[in-house]
Amino acid sequence: MRENWSNSLGFFLASVGSAIGLGNIWLFPWRLGEYGGMSFLIPYLIFSFVFILFGLMAELAFGRIHQKGTIGTFQNVFSQNKQNLATFLGGFQTLSMFGLLVFYFIALGWIIYYFMLLLSGNMANMNAENTFSSFAGSAQALPWHAIAITLTVLVVTSGVQKGLERLNKFAIPALFILFGVLLFNSLSLAGAEKGIEYMLQPKLDKLWEPATWVMALGQSFFTVSLGGMFIYGSYLSKKADIPSSAFWIVTTNFLASMLAALVIIPAVFAFNFDPAKGPGLLFITLPQLFNAMEDGQFWGILFFFSVVLAGMSSAVNLLEVPVEGIMHCFKLKRKFATVIVAILAFIAGLPLALNMDFFGLWADTVTIYIYPLSVLIIILVGQWVLGSDKILEEINLGAKIPIGKWVINHLRYGFVAVGFLIIILGVLYKGIG
Ligand code: ALA
Repeated sequence: MRENWSNSLGFFLASVGSAIGLGNIWLFPWRLGEYGGMSFLIPYLIFSFVFILFGLMAELAFGRIHQKGTIGTFQNVFSQNKQNLATFLGGFQTLSMFGLLVFYFIALGWIIYYFMLLLSGNMANMNAENTFSSFAGSAQALPWHAIAITLTVLVVTSGVQKGLERLNKFAIPALFILFGVLLFNSLSLAGAEKGIEYMLQPKLDKLWEPATWVMALGQSFFTVSLGGMFIYGSYLSKKADIPSSAFWIVTTNFLASMLAALVIIPAVFAFNFDPAKGPGLLFITLPQLFNAMEDGQFWGILFFFSVVLAGMSSAVNLLEVPVEGIMHCFKLKRKFATVIVAILAFIAGLPLALNMDFFGLWADTVTIYIYPLSVLIIILVGQWVLGSDKILEEINLGAKIPIGKWVINHLRYGFVAVGFLIIILGVLYKGIG
């Protein structure tokens, strides 16, 4: 029998776990720094609460209607003579999550490696810049890639309640507690206030720059794990309150991003590092910072452990989608399906783990073209093939505060326009996530 969440808290923590990931800890602080602090937050919050929140409700509801992943659901929704199209579209969505998973596993492997470097005390003797450039994209990264996959597989093979739920019931409270402790440390550093000022002072000239809005749009879209939430909706009971859950998922995810930024940026300023180092922030600037900080090894261990938790709780969601797809299509047992997907992800990831150019090419292709299109497919099939009224009915089933009919046009035209805009802007700006 297909499993369900044991209760709404289990679902909520798993969804928040899926949403909070490298996007919050790695991307958000650097975007916030680059696009003028508050000037970035304003469009980010507008997009998150005006569009993404409702896209999330629709996705969770659509997953819950047939209690299946996208392949099974689309096969139910499309007519008999369009079954090939249904399987193709559901398969495309499932593969797009696999595409994300392939490079997410590699980044998770890097983080586990950094956590172990700190734990062993070896980081202190290393030059952070050389460490990263000689490690990422080399054979040294492979064992860590394999470890990241193995840990994620152990969670997913244990099932929805014993695996996904259990991991997140530990990981999410632990993540917030660790970030609370790290925040206290960052804010007590001399010079931290310069970082707070940098983060929160609205640089209004940035607010009028299109790039700020474009990046805020991308960030809001990617961060709540749209695309991965369909499967979590499919394990949801009919009694669950989707509008309220979606609101709290978006809000908690935002709070986690702010917390991550408040941990990182003040500390970066206190030690006079450059906050706008882009991708190097996590793997170069922060290790340098922990080397310079008093008791830096301790703080570094706490920090990288938090990132491992955030990364794993997102990776299990990305893995769950293709695993469920294979279980559905080939009637396989969960353990077997998980191992097959993991082996495929390892093989597909090998060239990427060994070569940073391939890594960049794969990550760009998936995040710019394939992934946004796959999210759009879910909304388009839900709104136009199944029907907006059925999605709205499902959204409101179990809702204490039901959503009005206005959301139909909002999803049909507003969210769909946003989806297309993301694809077009992603191509023009070469990535906006
Ligand atoms: N939403 C996840 C993240 O931000 C995938 O990393």
